[in-house]
Amino acid sequence: MNLQLQQTEDGSHTLFLPDKNEHYHSMHGAIQEAQVVYLQAALHPAFEAYRHGMIPVVKVLEMGFGTGLNTFLTCLEAGKAQIPVEYTSLEAYPLDKEVWEKLNYASCMKQPAEQFHQLHLQAFDGRTYPLTPWFSLAKIHGLVQEIPLPENLFHVIYYDAFAPSVQPELWQLPIFQKLHQAAAKPCVLSTYCAQGQFKRNLRDAGFSVSNLPGPVGKREITIGRIN
Ligand SMILES: C[S@@+](CC[C@H](N)C(=O)[O-])C[C@H]1O[C@@H](n2cnc3c(N)ncnc32)[C@H](O)[C@@H]1O
Repeated sequence: MNLQLQQTEDGSHTLFLPDKNEHYHSMHGAIQEAQVVYLQAALHPAFEAYRHGMIPVVKVLEMGFGTGLNTFLTCLEAGKAQIPVEYTSLEAYPLDKEVWEKLNYASCMKQPAEQFHQLHLQAFDGRTYPLTPWFSLAKIHGLVQEIPLPENLFHVIYYDAFAPSVQPELWQLPIFQKLHQAAAKPCVLSTYCAQGQFKRNLRDAGFSVSNLPGPVGKREITIGRIN
């Protein structure tokens, strides 16, 4: 894969795919985007459900492991909150070590690099490994369209695919029907995408759809809820 390392406005890295003219993250700040779109919009409500005794552990599904940024931030957040998180991440095209080892997310978060390296070094074998006392990770290699998912399991879904203009097949109704089946009650799906047809597909799949204010540079993001 032809990939270029670039720095976003908050100092954190992203990757650029020149062949598709697509970035992995917002150029306004990869870390600030992840914090608003995934942690604040989806993880924190699940943390509240845990604190209210509604769920015994927070189960997260991520579409697109990529740079590992969402995984890393969620691992740090689980430790900070002392809330157990079981995280499953799907990825069709894992990055080579020469790419991920240059990413500056650990230093941006003022953390030693070991934990970030560990989550990348873990195999894409579908097995769950504890990374910290509060965070376990399973990485699955394959296409989200094809990977079988368990039913009624996930409280949080980070839908972090490339944009509909680049990968329209990843924003179609059958994928969201599959994610609806995989979702527990309650569940929050979040994504940076606010495209109209995608939101209709999400609603048709059974999610209750709403918008939240987006991170810097983006007016709104989309939330799909199951209560
Ligand atoms: C926008 S990037 C975000 C990745 C990651 N969440 C991050 O913060 O770096 C989208 C990711 O989805 C992956 N991807 C693309 N098509 C896929 C598919 N059909 N199934 C699973 N993953 C896919 C890409 O390789 C890429 O890593």
